[in-house]
Amino acid sequence: MIHILTVDGPSGVGKGTIARAVAKTKGWHLLDSGAIYRAFALAVNNRGIDINNHHELESLAKNLELEFFTESDSDLVSVLLDGVDVSSEIRKEETGEMASMVASIGIVRAALLERQRMFAKKPGLVADGRDMGTKVFSEAKFKVFLTATPQERANRRLKQLQQMGSQGIISQILADVVARDERDSSRKHSPLRPAEDALIIDTTELSVDEVITKVMTLVEA
Ligand code: DC
Repeated sequence: MIHILTVDGPSGVGKGTIARAVAKTKGWHLLDSGAIYRAFALAVNNRGIDINNHHELESLAKNLELEFFTESDSDLVSVLLDGVDVSSEIRKEETGEMASMVASIGIVRAALLERQRMFAKKPGLVADGRDMGTKVFSEAKFKVFLTATPQERANRRLKQLQQMGSQGIISQILADVVARDERDSSRKHSPLRPAEDALIIDTTELSVDEVITKVMTLVEA
């Protein structure tokens, strides 16, 4: 029996931080599905594939050479695309934008489905994304959906950029957050929405530790 916790929610809500912490505490595997869409978008861009060419997109998605590595003494996951470390590149804002665009194409989502399901291994998995609870692991026993106001998510994103030594303009970040929400929620295939059986946690006024405690309470119940 493989335990599965799905952690879904909009961009900038802190899914990655929560998913990593819970996976570490429980000793479970981790799936950052956004990193798969980001790496795929990068591959599409590097190869100059037209995003209207669904046949080529499907073939690339099925044959994508993607590897995830976790350093033994760190929580950080390295992502290798075609053997090249793209861990920093996939985190850029423009890659997230491209990922959101290619992720709206049904044939791409279908081609990447099995690759995500293969992350489910004993003793358990924490899967972070947009459709983990509604589609990829719809049978999961534990499901949470994290939310926060767009303003709060933009503030968190700005802080994250500053910690990485980058700058950002809050009004621009907020506009990007709102545009990404709109695209991810209104698409036809696996739109961003909570699973019916997900615990919805509004994190706007909560600290990271408070959110972790709520999620751990669910998983331990
Ligand atoms: O979680 P993230 O910001 O790394 O995701 C980047 C984009 O990838 C996001 O805007 C939409 C897409 N995505 C998706 O459609 N489904 C997922 N399960 C994860 C990400």
